[in-house]
Amino acid sequence: MVKIGNIELPDFPLLLAPMEDVSDPPFRALCKENGADVVYTEFISSEGLIRDAAKSVMKLDIYEKERPVGIQIFGANLDSMLRSVEIVEKTKPDIIDINFGCPVKKVVSKGAGAGILKDVDLMVSLTEAMVKHTNLPITVKTRLGWDHDSIRIVEVAERLQDVGCKAISIHGRTRAQMYKGSADWAPISEVKNNQRMHIPVFGNGDVDTPEKAMEMRDRYGLDGCMIGRAAIGYPWFFNEVKHYFKTGEYLEVPTIAQRTEMARRHLQMAIDWKGPILGVFETRRHYTNYFKGIPHFKEHRMKMVTSDDAKDVFAAFDEVEAKFGDTRIPQIG
Ligand SMILES: Cc1cc2nc3c(=O)[nH]c(=O)nc-3n(C[C@H](O)[C@H](O)[C@H](O)COP(=O)(O)O)c2cc1C
Repeated sequence: MVKIGNIELPDFPLLLAPMEDVSDPPFRALCKENGADVVYTEFISSEGLIRDAAKSVMKLDIYEKERPVGIQIFGANLDSMLRSVEIVEKTKPDIIDINFGCPVKKVVSKGAGAGILKDVDLMVSLTEAMVKHTNLPITVKTRLGWDHDSIRIVEVAERLQDVGCKAISIHGRTRAQMYKGSADWAPISEVKNNQRMHIPVFGNGDVDTPEKAMEMRDRYGLDGCMIGRAAIGYPWFFNEVKHYFKTGEYLEVPTIAQRTEMARRHLQMAIDWKGPILGVFETRRHYTNYFKGIPHFKEHRMKMVTSDDAKDVFAAFDEVEAKFGDTRIPQIG
């Protein structure tokens, strides 16, 4: 069994990664239904929260059915981070996660996200202050280091643990790599192999087949796996990994009719949650994956992503289902 604070999770839990504009309540709920053991919100700006910026505050919404859920916040200012912990606590998440991994310039330039990898002392002291400020478990998501020459993740993880961080998820890239090249899980394994580490160490980066998840567990010895891009428009991925672990065989992939049904539910939940305009707009990025592999998908996709009216999108789903309903197209392997 793996534990984050007092939260008990199955062996080798699968975590839905925090993803901006992706990991919203409807998508998290679908991933949870399909086997995710822990889900994280997209990152939320601590400065936005304390200004009461509507966009940041809306990101605090959680559904009961998606628990355990971690709310992820970012920032580099101690006072703002502590005040945002107080705001986040009121919405009763199970976990508060700190983003020390976001590589984008506008975040990094303020010393937040992966920017803090240049100042490990600040990273540790911010974490310590947040741990002391709340009874909720604090977890950290980070990268291997700022760049190849400054990887000190073994030491960093140990120091975070020692100030009370309850779990660490590590994306096997440096900030300098952004999303290029492939993730290196060996340094994450070194973190896990450190005799002094006792909190869960979760691996992240490029897991898009059940075999890769298994490699993270068996070859790299990690405690669980955080999955991002492979789940976009494909929430089945979590159960596919679990089935493979249990049986050594692939779970039968969904039919296009099942994919269409998932896309319909996703869109409807998004509309119910954020209204018809944002609901239609923000679900668009999932369609390419929901319908991956369909012949001549482009023409259907155009209908799904160009109309602002949900009715047209649902009609495009119906068309795809009528044409290809029984087909199964492998997504993985
Ligand atoms: C669209 C998108 C948005 C992301 N937003 C966040 C975020 O808000 N917080 C964060 O910690 N990481 C974010 N990430 C990084 C992912 O959590 C994850 O570390 C990365 O995608 C590697 O995992 P994967 O190969 O399984 O996708 C984002 C990634 C993507 C693709």
